[in-house]
Amino acid sequence: MVRSSPILMCPPRHFEVSYRINPWMEPGHVVVDRDRAQAQWHALRELLAQWAEVVELEPAPGFPDMVFTANAGLVLGRRVVVSCFYHEERKGESPYFLRFFESRGFEIEPLPESIFFEGAGDALFDRGKPRLWAGSGWRTDRRGHAWLSRILGCEVLGLELVDPRFYHLDTCFCPLNDGSLLYYPAAFSEDSQRLIAAHVPAEQRVAVEAQDALSFSCNAVNIDRVVVLHAASAALRKTLEQRGFSIRVTPLDEFLKAGGSAKCLTLKLHEELAVPAGKSAP
Ligand code: ARG
Repeated sequence: MVRSSPILMCPPRHFEVSYRINPWMEPGHVVVDRDRAQAQWHALRELLAQWAEVVELEPAPGFPDMVFTANAGLVLGRRVVVSCFYHEERKGESPYFLRFFESRGFEIEPLPESIFFEGAGDALFDRGKPRLWAGSGWRTDRRGHAWLSRILGCEVLGLELVDPRFYHLDTCFCPLNDGSLLYYPAAFSEDSQRLIAAHVPAEQRVAVEAQDALSFSCNAVNIDRVVVLHAASAALRKTLEQRGFSIRVTPLDEFLKAGGSAKCLTLKLHEELAVPAGKSAP
C-alpha cells in the first residue's frame, strides 16, 4: 500500500485546560482526565500509523495546547510558514515548532511582522485544485492571505469565520481527497458561503448538520480513502461511504474540552498543490 505523508503529533503529557481562548475551554468547570486523554491520543496515533508514519514531537511543560500540532505551521513541499499565535498563552509554542522544522531540514518562510497566522488550523489545501483555503475572523489575520498567495505561488481563497465555536478553519471545513468538501456552512459569513458555492460544485459539497459540526466531524483526518474522526451521525457516515470513503470513528472527547479533535492533533509533513484534473504531475 502507498504510504502517505508523515504526520506530526505531540503526546498530551502536559495537556490540560488551564485558560480560555475559545468557548469550548472552561477552566475550573471542566477537568481533563489526563489518563483518558493519553489513551485517546494513543488510539488515534495507532489508527493513523496504519497508513502513515507518525512523527512525535516532545511536548513542553507550560504549553498544554501544544498537542494541537495542526497549529505548528503550514507546510508546502520543503517549505514551512511557522505559526505566529494570536493569544499570549500559545505564543511560546512557536520556538519549539520552529526548532522541529529546522531539525527536519525545512526551509523557513518568515511571516511578515505583526501578522497572526495559526498554520494548518487556518489554512487548508484544496485536494482537487491547486489552491489554498484560508480562514480569518478569530485567529489568523486576513492581511496575511495575499502574502501567502505570493510565497506559495497559488490562489488563496479567504473565508471569514463568524461563529466563535468554530474559531479555526479546520473546525468546520475539510477538503477531501476526491476534491469534495466537508463543511458546516453556518460557521461562515454569507459572503464566504457564496464564495465556497462559487468554487465547489453542489455535488461536491457535503454540508453537515449542527449536531455533526458540534461533535467536530469536520475536524477529520483524511488519508487516501479513509476518514478518521471523533464522531459521525448515521446520515453523515452514509454520505461519506457513498462517496467511497471508509469511516473510522475514534473518541477524542477529552480534547473537545479544549476545542480540538482529530485533525487538530495532527499535521501532515508533506503537502503538495493538487494537480487539476486532466493534467498529469510534472
Ligand atoms: N485550545 C486550542 C486553541 O484554542 C485548540 C486548538 C485546536 N486546533 C485546531 N487546529 N483547530 O488554540
